[in-house]
Amino acid sequence: MFILTRKPDIRRIRSPSRTRHRATRTAVCRTRTGRWIYRTVTFAHPAATARSKGTTVQKILDAILADDLDAVGSLPLPETYRGVTVHADEAEMFDGLPTREKDPRQALHVDDVPVPELGPGEALVAVMASAINYNTVWTSIFEPLPTFGFLERYGRTSPLAARHDLPYHVVGSDLSGVVLRTGPGVNAWKAGDEVVAHCLSVELEHPDGHDDTMMDPEQRIWGFETNFGGLAEVALVKSNQLMPRPKHLSWEEAASPGLVNSTAYRQLVSRNGADMKQGDTVLIWGASGGLGSYATQMALGGGATPVCVVSSPEKAEVCRSMGAGLVIDRNAEGFQFWSDEHNQNPKEWKRFGAKIRELTGGEDPDIVFEHPGRETFGASVYVAKRGGTIVTCAATSGYMHSYDNRYLWMNLKRIVGSHFANYREAWEANRLIVKGRVHPTLSGVYPLERTGQAAHDVHRNAHQGKVGVLCLAPEEGLGVRDPELRERHLREITRFRGV
Ligand SMILES: NC(=O)c1ccc[n+]([C@@H]2O[C@H](COP(=O)([O-])OP(=O)(O)OC[C@H]3O[C@@H](n4cnc5c(N)ncnc54)[C@H](OP(=O)(O)O)[C@@H]3O)[C@@H](O)[C@H]2O)c1
Repeated sequence: MFILTRKPDIRRIRSPSRTRHRATRTAVCRTRTGRWIYRTVTFAHPAATARSKGTTVQKILDAILADDLDAVGSLPLPETYRGVTVHADEAEMFDGLPTREKDPRQALHVDDVPVPELGPGEALVAVMASAINYNTVWTSIFEPLPTFGFLERYGRTSPLAARHDLPYHVVGSDLSGVVLRTGPGVNAWKAGDEVVAHCLSVELEHPDGHDDTMMDPEQRIWGFETNFGGLAEVALVKSNQLMPRPKHLSWEEAASPGLVNSTAYRQLVSRNGADMKQGDTVLIWGASGGLGSYATQMALGGGATPVCVVSSPEKAEVCRSMGAGLVIDRNAEGFQFWSDEHNQNPKEWKRFGAKIRELTGGEDPDIVFEHPGRETFGASVYVAKRGGTIVTCAATSGYMHSYDNRYLWMNLKRIVGSHFANYREAWEANRLIVKGRVHPTLSGVYPLERTGQAAHDVHRNAHQGKVGVLCLAPEEGLGVRDPELRERHLREITRFRGV
């Protein structure tokens, strides 16, 4: 007979069988001797857990909705919470399928998982809303690698980090919510504070990261390379990730800019990226997408001229409504930068460059804001101005890039790599949102249970801007604290809704 530890340590949860109020799941539990065994564990039904009166999670939510934020710190913590997970034992489920056919809806689950132990310098946050980032798409299709390798490597670095190495991964790199508890050494934040979180997780024990925190050798993206992410009712963050919540936005609006807004800020504005200045011409790929919709706003706000590339008339219209006059519909123009799998077509690069010059009155881009990768990179290097910068943070269509190096060196162009944002850049990007200088680009919102569908939309490029997810927030539109600032910017804040 197996003797379970007093509180089963639930490591893998699967095969839910549900009744109205209870659900049994197969869980992996640790015995007193340290062995892992499968047991059937009975939980309250997930829906009942979140909604029936009197549960711990519901009491926390009731206090937040009643604006009784001072009470939040004295309410008991729940033992478990609902989170969106991928499972290690499913990491090979899409083997052999082309990327396009890998379906995030099959891999993303909503599970009850234990609340992690709180460590020094950390905070537990009640998550009101989160958003889909492309990294959750990558995680859910297990490309380019399953994220469990990240968790395992992180887990090896310290006993505290070992908490992250689990056979399930709670994903998500954005949140807005309320601080539930803070760990030892946290003085700037307290229970009841309304916050958003950026996704930079660093240790800062090595001097390499002391000027620019992105240079820390232990730099990780929270909710992608760490566990306990934001697509959940509760999240674990390092307290240095916390930032003030924009008060004129609802929970789902406030959660949505986080990762992409900070990334676009470093990539385009910061001197660590392209160091954009007034008057620059900026070619922005995917200008109505997650990153692009923020890059477009920053270019316009910073006195530059964006040339927006999109793939449909609706997306072109959204760019124009942001104030961008120069838009290229790449589908309508039919650009084919690759003749076949191995060869690019420089004539198409030239045709693309001519189109840009036609729009700009003859100017080439000072900056090319790159992220599609393999499919566009040759064209991006070609069209950049003499002395211009191609700044890249991703490779959605493939990471083995090729370009004609003669155009780079003979014309003294630079390729700059950029990744997320350091603490300071993330804070400054958030400040733009707080001040109403840059606005969320939320086009649609899903409940937590439908996160798989939300990620599927982003994977199929069927979305505009950002796709939000309600975690604890029972409905959209809650949490606005500064209606006057909101009213002043309502048109911009809601521009992407329903398009
Ligand atoms: N390094 C980092 O810190 C970081 C941070 C954020 C995101 N990323 C990465 O950046 C990429 C984009 O993220 P996102 O949030 O902006 O995604 P997104 O919301 O899907 O937007 C990307 C846009 O790029 C365009 N696009 C996609 N494939 C293309 C192709 N083959 N050729 C030309 N344009 C293409 C699409 O616009 P149209 O169809 O309208 O042209 C799409 O809307 C992802 O790979 C993501 O993982 C990296």
